[in-house]
Amino acid sequence: MGSGNAVGIISTGRALPVSRITNFDLEEIVETSDQWIRARTGIEERRIITNDETNSELSVLASLIALERANLRPEDIDLLIVATVTPDQTLPSTACLVQARLNAYNAAAFDLAAGCTGFLYGLSVAEQYIKNGAAKNVLLIGVDTLSPIVDWQDRNTCVLFGDGAGAVVLGKVEDDRGILASKMFSDGTKAGLLYIPAGGTRCPATLRTVGERMHFIKMNGPEVFKFAVTVMIDSTLQVLEMCGKTSAELDYLVPHQANERIINFAYKKMGLKPEQVLININRYGNMSSASIPVVLDEAVDGGKFKDGDLIALVSFGAGLTWGAAVLKW
Ligand code: ACO
Repeated sequence: MGSGNAVGIISTGRALPVSRITNFDLEEIVETSDQWIRARTGIEERRIITNDETNSELSVLASLIALERANLRPEDIDLLIVATVTPDQTLPSTACLVQARLNAYNAAAFDLAAGCTGFLYGLSVAEQYIKNGAAKNVLLIGVDTLSPIVDWQDRNTCVLFGDGAGAVVLGKVEDDRGILASKMFSDGTKAGLLYIPAGGTRCPATLRTVGERMHFIKMNGPEVFKFAVTVMIDSTLQVLEMCGKTSAELDYLVPHQANERIINFAYKKMGLKPEQVLININRYGNMSSASIPVVLDEAVDGGKFKDGDLIALVSFGAGLTWGAAVLKW
């Protein structure tokens, strides 16, 4: 641990549902093809919750791994954030359900909803809590179980999403390490590009809303696509500049896994090589808030990162929201 004010990721963990749905399975459900899905998105299969698997359950499993690797007990956590748009239930927060299951009795707990950017928003909140001394050890979970809110009759959306959870423990790290810079953004005027019409307090569940399939995700894919390419590049370059770095100095880019074509546009524009970009969308689809922590954990498990590597994380999602962070590993 550092004596200064540097905050970073101490450990990582992930949990994924057991059940897989391949593109070939989807061919049986909607008018689509493996060829179309792979060519337009890069996705080959995704994980889907079944039986007892829930958002909170995946969160607990991912957290236990991250806690063990950080050599911490649940009671050592003083802030628990669950970044999600698919809580187990509206009330109470999933964070409180996770806090109870972990017996993290010293932790304040809340959910954070920022679409697929939730994990990065959570990272920036955790950083501030630790920097100002309000928390020492923060458990941040990026989790989404989108399969229950995806319309399995809508080929525009049902091929894209998957379920999963990633967890990280954040704390003080050596000086000049950890989060060097981060910046979050939003543009609520674009809320209509990606939304669920009913189920909130403005339009509660009725027989009509259920019958009209108003509890499922609606998305204007091409508009989100165009927006995503621009903000992924701009926000990454902006946070690099905030810490006096350029994309030429980056070792790895850890992008949100929404569409492989978006990722490809972004990394090529930044002059990066394919081996510098972490991608697992082929195996999991878009897991919203879980995408970045899961791909990060897989990289850690694979021994990818070296001490001192410069890593940029970048995401975008419903809101619309977007954000980026630069870490020195
Ligand atoms: N199978 C076969 N054909 C399809 C499918 C499918 N699954 N989905 C759409 N099509 C068809 C369309 O109907 C359209 O047909 P038409 O030309 O006859 O009208 C054609 O394919 C092209 O459709 P587009 O929507 O233009 O295809 P596009 O290349 O834009 O790909 C996609 C669509 C994959 C949705 C893309 O736009 C995308 O990835 N957008 C970004 C989505 C995203 O990142 N969302 C973020 C979610 S984040 C969060 O917060 C949850």
